[in-house]
Amino acid sequence: MSARHFLSMMDYTPAELVGVIRRGVELKDLRNRGVLFEPLRGRILAMIFEKSSTRTRVSFETGMIQLGGQAIFLSPRDTQLGRGEPIADGARVMSRMVDAVMIRTFAHSNLIEFATHSRVPVINGLSDDLHPCQLLADMQTFLEHRGSIQGKTVAWIGDGNNMCNSYIEAAIQFDFQLRVACPEGYEPSAQFLALAGDRVTLTRDPYEAVEGAHLISTDVWTSMGQEEEAAKRLALFKPFQVNREMLDRAATDVLFMHCLPAHRGEEISVDLLDDPRSVAWDQAENRLHAQKALLEFLVAPAYTPA
Ligand code: CP
Ligand code: NVA
Repeated sequence: MSARHFLSMMDYTPAELVGVIRRGVELKDLRNRGVLFEPLRGRILAMIFEKSSTRTRVSFETGMIQLGGQAIFLSPRDTQLGRGEPIADGARVMSRMVDAVMIRTFAHSNLIEFATHSRVPVINGLSDDLHPCQLLADMQTFLEHRGSIQGKTVAWIGDGNNMCNSYIEAAIQFDFQLRVACPEGYEPSAQFLALAGDRVTLTRDPYEAVEGAHLISTDVWTSMGQEEEAAKRLALFKPFQVNREMLDRAATDVLFMHCLPAHRGEEISVDLLDDPRSVAWDQAENRLHAQKALLEFLVAPAYTPA
């Protein structure tokens, strides 16, 4: 049987996704109580990073070690993948040695190509299209602070980027209403919007989007790989800065999330991460717990002693 992957939120059933985030809550509790839990002893995760990372790298590497396994960091600069070896060949070889592969890349098709030729689970650690691991952490964070997100209203403010596309998938899978406020020409991809139907609405007015919302989320205006557009985007996105006044228009128990890294003074006001409604640090921590649950779900448990 071919391995199961995690390239998108749509790869799992809603029940499986809820199961993973609930397990993330349990693993967090085990860790907080100092319980050693090492089901992945002897297992190895390869991590291919074509783009920079703090949270994704540290959470996956730490997570594997805490689960009893190990992680190998690979940059294209140092592997043959960076010198033109076909992705399919890299996948065939690596997946005969390691037990899972996490990839952060540009084109989403690279992930699909790798997964197609991999014997072991492949995890999307961010592509130009999607960032599903971040959504596991976001959904765990909402669950911990407010309970089920089903039937709630979420506002996505800013760029219709990889994070926004993953919020659209989460809206479908976790059954919430998503309002996206973005400048003209920066909408999320049509393929994701089509998938969501009337679960997602688009507006040009961020204040309209946040009215009564239970969760507000945003991200940088210039994603990795778009650096040349930074100046143009900075001017265009100005009306989409999330600030305390915007949060005041939302539900009284609104939460604010940002996947980080944040640019204070750009997509968020300088003080927003200090607002009590912001749960960005819990959200960042939950990358560790949610992904440990994902690894436990995907990777076969420890070898038996000889
Ligand atoms: N949110 C997130 O993926 O952060 P990194 O780019 O630091 O991994
Ligand atoms: N949209 C951002 C997310 C970083 C975690 C990017 O792709 O750079």
